[in-house]
Amino acid sequence: MKLPRRDFLLLASAALLQAEDRPKRDMLVRSARPEDLEMPLAGFADYITPIEHFFVRTHVYAPTVNLSDWRLKVEGEVGTPLTLTMNDLKALRPVELVGVVECAGNGRSFYEPSVAGLQWGNGAVGNGRWRGVRLADVLKRAGIKESANEILFEGADVPIGTMPDFQRSIPVKKALDPNTLLAYEMNGETLPAQHGFPLRVVAPGWASDSWIKWLTSIRVLDKEHDGFWMKTAYRHPGKPVAPMAAIPPEQMQPVTSLRIKSVIASPADGSQVMAGSPLAIRGVAWSGDSGPVTAVEVSVDGGRTWKPAALRADQKTQFGWRQFEFNWTPPQPAYYTILARARDTAGNTQPLDQEWNPAGYGWNVVPRVIVDVVRELSTASSAAPDRANPAPPASLQTACNVCHGDDVIRQQRMNRAQWDRELGKMTGWGAKINASDRDSILDYLFSNFGPRPRGR
Ligand code: HEC
Repeated sequence: MKLPRRDFLLLASAALLQAEDRPKRDMLVRSARPEDLEMPLAGFADYITPIEHFFVRTHVYAPTVNLSDWRLKVEGEVGTPLTLTMNDLKALRPVELVGVVECAGNGRSFYEPSVAGLQWGNGAVGNGRWRGVRLADVLKRAGIKESANEILFEGADVPIGTMPDFQRSIPVKKALDPNTLLAYEMNGETLPAQHGFPLRVVAPGWASDSWIKWLTSIRVLDKEHDGFWMKTAYRHPGKPVAPMAAIPPEQMQPVTSLRIKSVIASPADGSQVMAGSPLAIRGVAWSGDSGPVTAVEVSVDGGRTWKPAALRADQKTQFGWRQFEFNWTPPQPAYYTILARARDTAGNTQPLDQEWNPAGYGWNVVPRVIVDVVRELSTASSAAPDRANPAPPASLQTACNVCHGDDVIRQQRMNRAQWDRELGKMTGWGAKINASDRDSILDYLFSNFGPRPRGR
């Protein structure tokens, strides 16, 4: 949705208030505004992720939608364009499914060299119970034409500054899949504002960039949509490429299906455990279009030998994740490297090494947790001190903190050329940088938030 520019500052200050509305609990705040919240590892202990632990990814400030004014338009290559109310939708047959929704950039912080974007760890993912209607039922009602090629979704959210409007499309085949839903409920509750109230797309097996929130319009297109978020963002080479390689745009393809993946939720990396005491290694695994997870194997010797973990028998859904457990009694004191590798019905497994790509999408490398097996647990705390950085130049505060805080800046680890590109991107979106300040801003960003030292 577009908004006149003069309303933008008003909206930015409203968003500041709104960000305080919902409790953040122990979420990891990647960006306070627009709000990007990551689920901590403890969240993987739940089969259905509670709403207060569900990750939040917003490109812009979450809009406040008033249900009495809200309508869903269905237009484009259809026989009968529709304007539907929530009551119209609820009159259709309800469908419910359990499904994982994962940000395409989940795990981006693990890529080396580092790439621009929110530096997610493992928790930009959740397993929800979604209830709504089939998108296919709505499209059938509108009479989708033979010429239909893609379905374009648009929400009530408005772009910040001059950034392109967040619109995404999916192919007709995915739209007509009986599992693709328009959901008005999540985990038995009305969809919360952060998760797209009153209606969001549920595209099971696909990354969350296709799960458009605050849905207001469905447009049936006879050709591919060519907006920024389809043609420039959310694209990857479809194969591993040499780190920092520049890929010609025509060799990039849109992000669609999730990849098979597992996460070790406990024990925590670097923790101490007792020799001779039973230890439960727990985690979850999920996959995308290639079918549900059928097995998880665990290694406690850095990948030399693998043994099957137990999968929960009552979690056999097509799109939900599966929790696993492997019981092991560490024999004697040493460092042990624990790995977990999932397999799906199509026989896919996870890679052992990163498959680098320019935007850091689809991280699914076999997770690796190192434990220190000891005879006696030590009580010394090893909390690392916070990184202290010199205060940013005033010119950066003025130029950057209009739209977001410096949290999104401080988590990046980029080289000078990457920072230079990032400044170009932000200027394109409306950041005002005085020509005389640009070099000092770039110096500050690169010297404080440059690439990580090797080995860390
Ligand atoms: C006109 C508004 C605006 C201004 C001013 C602005 N940004 Fe941003 N920036 C954004 C938005 C919106 C996002 C989040 C985009 C998303 O989530 O997809 C963002 C995200 C980022 C990110 C995360 C990586 C990415 O590209 O998503 C970095 C780093 C960043 N900005 C740096 C800066 C710096 C440095 C400045 C000051 C020179 C700045 N921004 C000024 C709008 C702005």
